[in-house]
Amino acid sequence: MESLVKDHYNSANLTENIKNALIKAGKDLSNLEPKEISIIDQLHTGGAPASIKLLKKAKLNPDALVIDAGCGIGGSSRLMAEQFNCKVTGVDLAQKFIEAADFLTQCTGLENKTKFKQGSILKMAFADNSFDAVLCQHVLMNIEDKAAAAKEFFRVLKPGGKLILHEVTRGNSNTELYLPVPWASKATISFIEPWETLVDILENQGFEISIYSDESDAALEWNERVKKANQQRVFNPQDLGPGLIFGENAQFFAKNMCQNLKENVVCLIETVLEKGYKQ
Ligand SMILES: C[S@@+](CC[C@H](N)C(=O)[O-])C[C@H]1O[C@@H](n2cnc3c(N)ncnc32)[C@H](O)[C@@H]1O
Repeated sequence: MESLVKDHYNSANLTENIKNALIKAGKDLSNLEPKEISIIDQLHTGGAPASIKLLKKAKLNPDALVIDAGCGIGGSSRLMAEQFNCKVTGVDLAQKFIEAADFLTQCTGLENKTKFKQGSILKMAFADNSFDAVLCQHVLMNIEDKAAAAKEFFRVLKPGGKLILHEVTRGNSNTELYLPVPWASKATISFIEPWETLVDILENQGFEISIYSDESDAALEWNERVKKANQQRVFNPQDLGPGLIFGENAQFFAKNMCQNLKENVVCLIETVLEKGYKQ
């Protein structure tokens, strides 16, 4: 299954295409501000503002050691380093994403605070009890064995460590998912579960919920805005935008996510859980 997921995110010549698009957009590659690339490096609903809002709620300490699990091209890793002073390790299945993450991190001068490793979040090469937090944003939708992910997050977190989730869950409609969506062009690699199922898995693992909110309404508003903006321009996958990452499919994401959210096929949740001190 992981190889099908990898194929979905395997964008040919990704780093080269990003580089060319940045140059075409007049950006200075030796001195990029993270906000100049947030249009391409925040591969989740709500973009950087949604990440900042959630991370503020999570109250990470400066210098916290954080894993960005399923980091994509490292947008949230850089954001945590730059704005929250964390030391971040991003892990992602897709080698092309790791290469792009390294490139963009050099361009933004954040390589002292962020590093990236290719690998599966179901089996991470980190010691037990070694991180203060794990951020997992729009990744569990690609993971069939969510109990295995919960177990691995629990293992690497220190006692008192935080699991910060920003995820799409199954809504209460039985309608099939409108595709493509960012995490899947085919139903075979989408594993969305209702929040109730997910929370059972996490609590069975030993996590305790400290914050939870259903952000589906905000997600719909954000997707409506993106859909409207898309209608007002001609889509070109080589321009600085999500087409660089997802190709032609990117032009359909906002429209399909609006349908999925309106019809309650999916929901969007934010939650912070803690690994208790007693184990
Ligand atoms: C929709 S993207 C979100 C990326 C990033 N979290 C963000 O919000 O910008 C999902 C990411 O999860 C990664 N992913 C999926 N399954 C994974 C696994 N088992 N191990 C590591 N990464 C995985 C994909 O390669 C992809 O980069």
